Amino acid sequence: MAARIDWERLTGVALDARKRAYAPYSRFKVGAALLADSGEIYGGCNVENASYGLCLCAERNALTTAVAAGQTRFRAVVVATGASPASPPCGMCLQVLSEFCVDIDILLVNPRGEQQRTKLSRLFKNPFRWKGAKPD
Ligand code: THU
Repeated sequence: MAARIDWERLTGVALDARKRAYAPYSRFKVGAALLADSGEIYGGCNVENASYGLCLCAERNALTTAVAAGQTRFRAVVVATGASPASPPCGMCLQVLSEFCVDIDILLVNPRGEQQRTKLSRLFKNPFRWKGAKPD
């Protein structure tokens, strides 16, 4: 049986990562903490760019860092924003998460302590999957 998810620790990593967000354009700082099946935790923050379309979300930063470290299976993710109520991941991040996660527990938090628990399958019901795609 899988170990209990330490949501407090994950939340701490996400809030800490959020402090390092580079968001001079939107000023909307985001942090994420991703728990791999191995028990390892990977943090990420959003990194914006003067060419706005190149902005990287915190969730994809955490995920790609984890994949680069050899992780491809995940159990949980905490997303920390300054929004109230706590904000969910954007559609692009949901699709990218769904590449690696059939389903995953998601906790949305903000520094005021507001929290909402949800799941990838609840926020994103019908991900695009290559095996389901039909060529012309
Ligand atoms: N952002 C994230 O980091 N994660 C999301 O799921 C939504 C949006 C970032 C991108 C941009 O730097 C800022 O928040 C405003 O959109």
